[in-house]
Amino acid sequence: MNIKYFPGVLLLWILFSAVGVSAQEDANAVERGLKTFMRVGCYECHGTDGKGSEAGTALTPETLPPEAIANFIRFSPGRMPVYPVEVLSDEEIIDIVAYLESVPLSPDADDVDILKALALDKK
Ligand code: HEC
Repeated sequence: MNIKYFPGVLLLWILFSAVGVSAQEDANAVERGLKTFMRVGCYECHGTDGKGSEAGTALTPETLPPEAIANFIRFSPGRMPVYPVEVLSDEEIIDIVAYLESVPLSPDADDVDILKALALDKK
């Protein structure tokens, strides 16, 4: 390689490997977050994908910032149980937020075959 390109190529290599590492770390956080979400029972009220149920509000797709979620979990004033730090660490809450942020939007009814059939019935 021509020596005058070396610093640029080196910089690119460093940049891309950093992006690779953080994407992997994000994937790990999402996976840990899902496990914790299931282990401590968030899913029982909020649904496995955080989209809510009769027992708990939807937490996705509009996800609160980690501090707000942590605050709610620690000091829940309502029907939701309080989770002290011995049960759920701050790091685990950050992982839960990573998981919630990774949940994709629900598809449009028009994009779901069986619902398309229902929509036709209505017309
Ligand atoms: C027993 C049912 C139950 C469980 C278990 C539960 N929640 Fe909740 N959660 C609720 C209900 C109900 C609300 C609505 C506010 C209220 O009534 O207190 C709520 C509200 C919230 C909110 C506030 C949402 C908003 O937009 O204001 C967050 C964030 C939240 N829950 C996260 C969690 C997480 C994370 C877990 C697991 C660590 C969890 N919840 C476990 C029932 C539950």
